[in-house]
Amino acid sequence: MSLAAREPVGVAVVGLGYWGPNLVRNLYELGDAELVGVCDLDESRLGRIARRYPDVRRTTSYDELLDDPEVEAVAIATTVGTHFDLARAALEAGKHALVEKPLASSSEEASKLAALADSKGLVLMPGHTFLYSPPVNLVRELIGSGELGDIYFISSSRVNLGLHQPDVSVIWDLAPHDFSILRYWLGEPPTSVSASTRGCVLPGVPDVAFVNLGFPSGTIANVHLAWLAPTKLRQTVVVGSQKMVVYDDGSREPVRIHDSGAVLEDPESFGEYRLTYRTGSILSPPVEATEPLAIELRDFCRAVRTNVIPTSSAQIGLDVVEMIEAVEQAIADHGAVVSIGPGS
Ligand SMILES: NC(=O)c1ccc[n+]([C@@H]2O[C@H](COP(=O)([O-])OP(=O)(O)OC[C@H]3O[C@@H](n4cnc5c(N)ncnc54)[C@H](O)[C@@H]3O)[C@@H](O)[C@H]2O)c1
Repeated sequence: MSLAAREPVGVAVVGLGYWGPNLVRNLYELGDAELVGVCDLDESRLGRIARRYPDVRRTTSYDELLDDPEVEAVAIATTVGTHFDLARAALEAGKHALVEKPLASSSEEASKLAALADSKGLVLMPGHTFLYSPPVNLVRELIGSGELGDIYFISSSRVNLGLHQPDVSVIWDLAPHDFSILRYWLGEPPTSVSASTRGCVLPGVPDVAFVNLGFPSGTIANVHLAWLAPTKLRQTVVVGSQKMVVYDDGSREPVRIHDSGAVLEDPESFGEYRLTYRTGSILSPPVEATEPLAIELRDFCRAVRTNVIPTSSAQIGLDVVEMIEAVEQAIADHGAVVSIGPGS
């Protein structure tokens, strides 16, 4: 690798609300990056960063940041509705862009950003942090190696009490996590989507959703999302023809592989069917405890330096936005099944 390829990437963070400070902390500590600036419209948020990182340049002007030649890339952690304008301006200024999930607020915007990045030879990476989570990657290996057999179905629950957001629904807020994980595990986007939702607290802003997805391979999935639940739960169950897996993000044993299943034996006589149920051992492999965001940012820097497509690719970002749009379409059509993907 050349010397330039090993030089830290100059990254500035835009948006210092809830999530941005996590990007700041990781970039500050990462050898592959140099934190060359932070930006927020809100002075008090800049002040909070200044107390912790007094040597980092601060500004309320995004244009000033984009004019700075030391800024090679921006990490955008602002509210979803601002992603498109900020990312477009960055790419037009010749900066690589890491955009927090979801990539944009429509597939049209996400496609435009992807095309712009392509035409300029710049990296556009959505911040799908779970794609860098060691347990998520362990489950992906189990699926990819065939150890679980055919994947019959996946069910996922991501529920918590709060935080209600006035500008986006629970779907735009939480579904990017599960949708990106499913897209990553199965290696294909779904072709059908249906959903039922309800705005329980703020009328018109869904805070609970039950989403059904159908994939070309035959796998079906259900994703339950809510800002209204008595306890925090981040659990996904993957049921295969050979084995089953429970991935529990909040557990000390985040991946448990169950050697369980049901087998249809050959009938001994006409009209007879016999099922054998198997409840074998449960294995809980050790899982690396590295912070996914640090791995994500390293992948971003590697993509900037080597031009290799990051694991959290612009295509996955676009597919996730298309999945969310399909959910919204299904809701608008009163729960109809919506087809997505080519030809729909
Ligand atoms: N990857 C993850 O796990 C994860 C977790 C939480 C949030 N997020 C994402 O991070 C993003 C931010 O979420 P949040 O909860 O931190 O939001 P937030 O509302 O807490 O913070 C947004 C910040 O952006 C600033 N801002 C808005 N417009 C700006 C502009 N034009 N220029 C400069 N600053 C601007 C605001 O002043 C605010 O400080 C969202 O896209 C969200 O989905 C990702």
